[in-house]
Amino acid sequence: MNMLSRKASHDSHGQDSSYFLGWQEYEKNPYHPIQNPTGIIQMGLAENQELVDFMAKIRENGIKFASEKLVLTAGATPANEILMFCLADPGEAFILPTPYYPGFDRDLKWRTGVEIVPMHCSSSNGFRITSSALEQAYQQAQKLNLKIKGVLVTNPSNPLGITMTKTELNHLVDFAIDKNIHIISDEIYSGTVFDSPKFVSITEVVNERITTVNNNSITSIWNRIHIVYGFSKDLGIPGFRVGMIFSNNETVVAAATKMSSFGLVSSQTQYLVANLLKDKKFTCKHMEETQKRLKRRKEMLVSGLRNAGIRCLKSNAGLFCWVDMRHLLGSATTFEAEKELWMNILCKVGLNISPGSSCHCCEPGWFRVCFANMSEDTLEVAMRRIKAFADSITISTSVVRGSIAKWEN
Ligand SMILES: Cc1ncc(COP(=O)(O)O)c(C=O)c1O
Repeated sequence: MNMLSRKASHDSHGQDSSYFLGWQEYEKNPYHPIQNPTGIIQMGLAENQELVDFMAKIRENGIKFASEKLVLTAGATPANEILMFCLADPGEAFILPTPYYPGFDRDLKWRTGVEIVPMHCSSSNGFRITSSALEQAYQQAQKLNLKIKGVLVTNPSNPLGITMTKTELNHLVDFAIDKNIHIISDEIYSGTVFDSPKFVSITEVVNERITTVNNNSITSIWNRIHIVYGFSKDLGIPGFRVGMIFSNNETVVAAATKMSSFGLVSSQTQYLVANLLKDKKFTCKHMEETQKRLKRRKEMLVSGLRNAGIRCLKSNAGLFCWVDMRHLLGSATTFEAEKELWMNILCKVGLNISPGSSCHCCEPGWFRVCFANMSEDTLEVAMRRIKAFADSITISTSVVRGSIAKWEN
């Protein structure tokens, strides 16, 4: 069975010209003034080693990333699109748990022709991934005659602001083994985890399983796991456009490297970022400080909203909270009522938040609220406004909620 797309498995890129062969030769025989003074001099820069060290550091060195398995891209956006081009042909599909980052409709589908099959998560279990929801999405795809090539998750989740549990990650791995499909884990928020439980990457779960049950199905899934990462969130430098794909699949790495020529990171940026990452003391302090500030901000948001009678999903990561405004919808718990509430909050209260429907959430009344892109003073103004608004609404319905442990209290 061909697991990859036609683009990735056939050599139609034209990279085998002598122009590109020169680059490969450099890899085999790099110049060094003392150890290899006759070697080839590379007039470009790709300091992938610093990147892989940094990725390992965020994961508390629980996993090592080999630099030759890394492909640099101009942000996480092209990294996700490139993986679609490599893993699926037009008309094939990926399962995505909802709610999901609204940009995926553009990034994963638009130019690639790949389809998204939503896997509906519910507030009843804090929007966690379950085996039955995965299976249901798979069955739904079959009904629509769509071939599923994989599942794409964001861990930590945008928009939920939570890290995936080991149980969820194991469900995902079991599912991918059972259906013989890929897993893409977009870990662009992995450095924003400001509270327990700590971040666990899918790579750690698979690694752990390989060391305990070393059978064929578990070892073969290594080739079908692909990580997306980038510095837009963790280092707060979205304008630098630095992203990457990490994959154990050599064919995917080779195809993605060829495709990355349509969105390269400039050598000047690579040089700057490599130097920044080389300063381990600085990066450690930077991450520590960022997480401390995010936690403080999140607590400000949660207590401000609580004061207005609004609760959030309990979160430990990200730059946003997933906020429950179902009680402000009035008697009609519909997406029309959600849109009306959103318009009121935007136009009358003067706050731009994202309605859950834009993230394909299947329950009306949820909103993503960002807390990290403004000053504390501005956040306080926003909280005063939302309180005045919530107080002005007669709370006529009481919504049945999940167990208190899933909520900020
Ligand atoms: C989950 C996720 N992936 C990818 C991206 C895109 O990141 P970049 O700016 O590096 O392209 C975002 C940005 O919001 C995101 O939330």
